[in-house]
Amino acid sequence: MVTKIVSSAAERKMLSDAGYADPAIDYYIEKKYMGHIENADQVSENIGSCGDTMKIYLKIDDRTIIKDVRYEITGCAGAISAAMAAVDLIKGKTIDEALKINDGDVFKILENIPEKKHHCIQLAVKTMHKGILDYKDKKSL
Ligand code: FES
Repeated sequence: MVTKIVSSAAERKMLSDAGYADPAIDYYIEKKYMGHIENADQVSENIGSCGDTMKIYLKIDDRTIIKDVRYEITGCAGAISAAMAAVDLIKGKTIDEALKINDGDVFKILENIPEKKHHCIQLAVKTMHKGILDYKDKKSL
C-alpha cells in the first residue's frame, strides 16, 4: 500500500512536470472507465495517427441514452486521461448530444496536457464518435 502511494506521488510529479494539469492527472491515475462491458450494445475500435489503439464499449438505453461506457486503451497518459474525461461528458446524454462533444470540450475538462499530446484527445473523441456512428448504422438510426 505504501509503495502504491509513493509511486502514485512520483507519477503525479512526473506528469505535472511534463505539463499535465491536476484534473488530467486524476483521470489518468484513477482510470475509472477503463475496461470492458459484458453484453455491450456496441464495441468499436480506432487507431490513432501515432499507431496507438482504443476500443470503446457502449451500453445504450432505449436506443438513445448512453448508460455506460468503457475504453480499452493501448496508448499514452494523454490518451487515457482524455478518454476518461470523454466518458464523464457523454454518460447520461443522448447519442446525438455525444456526437456534438469535440476535442475542445475534453481539453477544457482536463485543463491542460502537453501540446504534443493534443492528438491523443482527438483519438479519444474520434473513437467515441465512431462507436456511436457504428451503433446508429447498425440500428438504422
Ligand atoms: Fe499515441 Fe498518445 S495516443 S501518443
